[in-house]
Amino acid sequence: MSDRKQAVLERLEHLNAQAKAGGGQSRVDRQHAKGKLTARERIDAFIDAGTFVELDRLVTHRCNDFGMDEQRIAGDGVVTGYGEVDGQRVFIFAQDFTVFGGSLSESFAGKICKVMDMAVKAGLPVIGLNDSGGARIQEGVASLAGYAEIFYRNVAASGVVPQISLVMGPCAGGAVYSPAITDFVIMVRKSSFMFITGPEVVQTVTQEEVTQEELGGADTHAGTSGVAHFACDDEQQALALTRELLSYLPPNNLDAPPIVPTQDAFDRRDTALAELVPYDPMKPYDMREVISRIVDDGRFLEVHAHFAKNILCGFARLGGRSVGIIGNQPAVLAGCLDIDASVKAARFVRFCDAFNIPLVTFVDVPGFLPGTAQEYGGIIRHGAKLLFAYAEATVPKLTVITRKAYGGAYDVMSSKHIRGDLNFAWPSAEIAVMGPQGAVKIIHRKVIGAAQDPAATEKALIDEYTDLFANPFKAAELGYIDEVMDPMDTRPRLISALQLLQGKRDRLPAKKHGNIPL
Ligand code: HXC
Repeated sequence: MSDRKQAVLERLEHLNAQAKAGGGQSRVDRQHAKGKLTARERIDAFIDAGTFVELDRLVTHRCNDFGMDEQRIAGDGVVTGYGEVDGQRVFIFAQDFTVFGGSLSESFAGKICKVMDMAVKAGLPVIGLNDSGGARIQEGVASLAGYAEIFYRNVAASGVVPQISLVMGPCAGGAVYSPAITDFVIMVRKSSFMFITGPEVVQTVTQEEVTQEELGGADTHAGTSGVAHFACDDEQQALALTRELLSYLPPNNLDAPPIVPTQDAFDRRDTALAELVPYDPMKPYDMREVISRIVDDGRFLEVHAHFAKNILCGFARLGGRSVGIIGNQPAVLAGCLDIDASVKAARFVRFCDAFNIPLVTFVDVPGFLPGTAQEYGGIIRHGAKLLFAYAEATVPKLTVITRKAYGGAYDVMSSKHIRGDLNFAWPSAEIAVMGPQGAVKIIHRKVIGAAQDPAATEKALIDEYTDLFANPFKAAELGYIDEVMDPMDTRPRLISALQLLQGKRDRLPAKKHGNIPL
């Protein structure tokens, strides 16, 4: 081998080794001591063995201030590339906290932008593993420019390829906005946090004392703010969950989601369904059980499981095909729609519509939640988001009314009138403007007031109203319900409906974009 060739190969080997070593053993040890994996360990745990191809391993930063010219590490603190997840190709970037605290330089941002651009061209998902001290302080505005370049691409890629953010360490200040724009945010308890301003600033400005975990930890964002869709106990769980999530998604907006064969018979009739929903409208039940008895192998991947629990959203399969499921949850707030539930479900509906995932809606809703907190908080505007999202969705839309479908909430929950394709009701369905008690109080107030025995009169009128309207028959007579079916038939019926609608074509009028009431 010539001296020159030898020198080049040795230099390459040195640079590769430097990139792989990241910030050095002591920083790797500190990372491990916090219960965190390094960027490369995360990629190894996530991507199918032997399929990861790294890009830009030799990129370095271009900063010469603050002695940074003496500290250039190949890769510059972010590992980027592509690989396979259960055989499906994805692009990925993993911020490396051991190199300058994973902080974002201009070059670092350029590496992320490169994989995002390639992902959009190739039509493949982008997975971001975030663990960063934010803008690289030594680079100033060049770093801010880098963030904005990423944000711009997050927006451009939205609705084109799925984008999933795992937050596995710090994510603060404006840096939070890249995950926030992506489709799903997955956080790890105790080791990740997201906030605009940290506990010290909060205390100075508002005098509130709050820990990092309370302010922006995984449970806060998964349960209170709704910023995170999932909270996991550790990094391995977060990575496994991401793999599962990807299994339901197509690689881009022009492709269909993967079909996953199942042993669960397409014509399986679940006898327990007939007994699961109490006819007494005051009795709660768990809609999650209804869903899991119907879908393939009982598997339902709930999204936002800890946020707005009065509505369920998640992925499942019916006959091997991915579906997005939305269900009112009578076990929480009687299944009322409130601000958080409307926003949660609207976002989920729009994701599914963008990525060709049919919607299956299970309805048991007494209406929108009353009260000043809801009205002052803008339930009108937020409830309208869900209505808007359902109405503009052109994927196949199947609806099953299990019990209550009252008032405006009946219209909103994928009704025929906003282009539900097939709308089914169980015999226990009650489709009306409102529940019998409320209705009788309004329309018969004078009659009840003048009666000799007001209580008996009221009861008789409630019974009359119940017979007339607290059932699915009026809606079925009008053709608003396509079939009043035996609950046991729900799985076979939904699967055949999905097959029927596989080639559904539906278009909204040409426009730049609608104006969803944000
Ligand atoms: C450069 C940084 C850095 C940063 C951390 N480091 N943050 N280097 N720019 N933003 C370096 C540290 O100097 C240290 O280097 C190493 O990373 C690890 O940091 P530690 O502080 O030792 O780690 P830890 O105790 O775990 O604390 C982590 C941390 C803290 C909470 C993230 O580092 C921190 O508060 N960093 C500053 C965060 C920040 O203010 N960022 C800018 C925000 S503004 P050595 O060599 O010792 O290992 C922003 C705006 C984005 O991000 C706007 C987008 C629009």
